[in-house]
Amino acid sequence: MSMHSLQVTVRRSVAADCDGIFAVHTEAIRQLCKVEYSQSQLAAWAGRLTPSGYLPAMGKNVFLVAERNGQIAGFAEFAVSEGEIVAIYVHPRHARQGVGSALFRSLEEIANGRSQIHTQNRQSSGSIHVGLLLIER
Ligand SMILES: CC(C)(COP(=O)(O)OP(=O)(O)OC[C@H]1O[C@@H](n2cnc3c(N)ncnc32)[C@H](O)[C@@H]1OP(=O)(O)O)[C@@H](O)C(=O)NCCC(=O)NCCS
Repeated sequence: MSMHSLQVTVRRSVAADCDGIFAVHTEAIRQLCKVEYSQSQLAAWAGRLTPSGYLPAMGKNVFLVAERNGQIAGFAEFAVSEGEIVAIYVHPRHARQGVGSALFRSLEEIANGRSQIHTQNRQSSGSIHVGLLLIER
C-alpha cells in the first residue's frame, strides 16, 4: 500500500457528510460489533439510524470525520460540556489502520484544557490505546 492511501485527514463534518457517516456507522455496527451482540440486536440498532439523524448532533457537539483518499473512513462525536465521547466508529474496510487513533488524537486536542475525555463507561482514557480499547469493549 502506498503512503498516500494510508494518509488520514480529520476535519469537522458538514451536512454533505451524512451519507458517508451513515455508511460507516451501519457497517461498523454490523461487522465490528458482532462479537458482543446478537444478529437481531445489531439489525435493530443499525435499523434505527438515518443519514439525516446526524444533523442535530453536528449542531450541538463536536462532530469529526476521518477521510482517506477522499472517502469517509470514520467519524467521532464528542460532547464538550460533558467531556464525553458519544461515538467513535471506523468502517470495517479501514479498521486497524490507525483511523480510530487519529480521531481520538483530534478529540484529545480539542478537549485539552477544557475537560477530561472519558468514554461512556466513565473510565479515564489516558492514552489512545487505552481509550480505543475501552470503547471497543
Ligand atoms: C473501536 C474502533 C473505532 C477502532 O478503530 P480503528 O481505526 O480500527 O483503530 P486503530 O487502527 O487506530 O487501532 C488502535 C488500537 O486500538 C486497539 N484495537 C482496535 N481494534 C481492536 C480490536 N478489534 N480488538 C482489539 N484491539 C483493538 C489496538 O490496540 C489498536 O492498535 P494496533 O492495531 O496497533 O494493535 C473500531 O473498531 C470501531 O468502529 N468499532 C465499532 C464501534 C464501537 O464503538 N464499538 C464499541 C461498541 S460495539
